Amino acid sequence: MPLKIVRYPDPVLRAKCRPVTEVTPEVRRLAADMIETMRAANGVGLAAPQVGQDVQLAVIDVSHNPKCVSFLRVNGEPADMSARMPVIFLNPVLEPGKDKETDEEGCLSFPRLRGDIRRSASLKVTFQTLDGATQTWETDGLLARAFQHETDHLNGVLFIDRMSAAAKVGLKRKLARLMEEWAEDDEA
Ligand code: NI
Repeated sequence: MPLKIVRYPDPVLRAKCRPVTEVTPEVRRLAADMIETMRAANGVGLAAPQVGQDVQLAVIDVSHNPKCVSFLRVNGEPADMSARMPVIFLNPVLEPGKDKETDEEGCLSFPRLRGDIRRSASLKVTFQTLDGATQTWETDGLLARAFQHETDHLNGVLFIDRMSAAAKVGLKRKLARLMEEWAEDDEA
């Protein structure tokens, strides 16, 4: 069942999410619903606070663009990225690479808003799967960017926080409009 996507500036987007300590049927259902919600919205990633849940669970699917990574290693072994999508990940811990690159990002909680964000070009991420296994993924490109964006969400950090001050000034009107819409939606 697709869920309602929480929009900025809803306070749940600033929550420090709780680790998932047990994979209950509710956690599985949430993950399945989040994948459906992400797909219905044509997103490449979605984090639990974006559907109002302050738990460390997020989903990513970048399989629409098989060339968006130059490599993927899972637990040290080369892996086929498309075959691993969508990825559902719990309690992620990132080890960002030193090289940075800038690319344009959007976020399903910020309709119509896009901006350039500088992030690590590659990373290592360790997380739990729904089966209770721990996996370590190493990758780059859009997948590395998505892991950073979604893991930020689980820490209450939003992509606008990582924009340059100049970029944010340029988006001031759009952000103000989102705040108005959110307040109106809240009253309805
Ligand atoms: Ni986002």
